[in-house]
Amino acid sequence: MPKFYGKITGWGAYAPPRIITNHELEATLDTSHEWIVQRTGIHQRHVAGPDETTSTMAVKASWSALAKANLPATDLDLILIATSSPDYFTPPVSSMVQAALGAHNTPAMTIVTGCTGFVYALVTAEQFIATGAYRNILVVGVELLSRFVNWEDRSTSVLFGDAAGAVVVQATEQVCGVQGYQLGSDGSGYQHIIMPSGGSARPFGADVLHEGSHYLQMNGREVFKFATRIFAPASAKALAMAGKTMADIDWIIPHQANLRIIQAAAKDMGTPMERFIVNIERYANTSAASIPLALAENLDNGRIQPTDTLLLVSFGAGMTWAAAVVQLQPKAS
Ligand SMILES: CC(C)(COP(=O)(O)OP(=O)(O)OC[C@H]1O[C@@H](n2cnc3c(N)ncnc32)[C@H](O)[C@@H]1OP(=O)(O)O)[C@@H](O)C(=O)NCCC(=O)NCCS
Repeated sequence: MPKFYGKITGWGAYAPPRIITNHELEATLDTSHEWIVQRTGIHQRHVAGPDETTSTMAVKASWSALAKANLPATDLDLILIATSSPDYFTPPVSSMVQAALGAHNTPAMTIVTGCTGFVYALVTAEQFIATGAYRNILVVGVELLSRFVNWEDRSTSVLFGDAAGAVVVQATEQVCGVQGYQLGSDGSGYQHIIMPSGGSARPFGADVLHEGSHYLQMNGREVFKFATRIFAPASAKALAMAGKTMADIDWIIPHQANLRIIQAAAKDMGTPMERFIVNIERYANTSAASIPLALAENLDNGRIQPTDTLLLVSFGAGMTWAAAVVQLQPKAS
């Protein structure tokens, strides 16, 4: 039986045009541009306009990826949407995206693993391709967290931005795609990144509204420690599964949560910062969108070549982590 690999034939990203700078936040919050830059590396973030939703952003990134792959949406066999900020709890946002793309009756599912969602979804896509079940899969990471943070809470609102990134994965018999990965979860730390109310544990009500406990809350220090602890071992396991070392990796795309986390990871791995793709200064933390956004942007500007081998590493709510060694397209033989 032939073995199939997932070739990334298309990519696209979308960030809303409205930009909020750190200086603008100084007007409404007890914060400063200097504090935010020094502690996080963030200078600005894109924020969705009133007419935009998670699904509309996902659809924009998807159209770009499908156009690049020259694939009609009707040829898609599966749509995977990674997000923790859907339009609605029910229906799944993946079905809304499927309908908006006109991908008639294509199976669609939403993957909810926080910031690691895109890497989880990409690894999932590779499994469907490898078994021969599906040939054309759309994988999207999208997040509209500006509607879920409390804009009066300086410890969270300064950190996040809205965006979407998408890739088209298509079956090929030439070696490429996700060559090694490590996915992980440690739910004992679930309370470190949480929207405490609005779910079944604590349904929405007047008390919730009064407390503001439907907003995203985070224990920044615990998340920071977790992220720096997990980065190097998860990368090492993904590399080992791929039978590769850091010498085989052209670029590392880390989840863009905090520049200091990326710097700590670089030090831990003995790898210079120049090999890490960083765009957090312009987009802030776009959660599940951060890796596909950085990927699409750097493929478009030519910094990443389609035949490059990448190490994607992410961490986030759950707590979850995900690392993957991905060769986007086959090397020319
Ligand atoms: C959130 C984060 C930037 C905070 O940085 P930190 O160095 O840990 O700062 P602390 O939380 O210890 O807070 C230090 C002080 O700064 C204050 N502070 C917090 N946010 C602030 C802001 N935006 N502006 C100014 N001061 C702020 C705190 O209130 C605290 O004041 P105190 O000492 O008087 O109590 C950092 O912990 C972080 O990035 N963690 C990881 C978060 C992350 O990656 N989340 C996404 C995961 S997917």
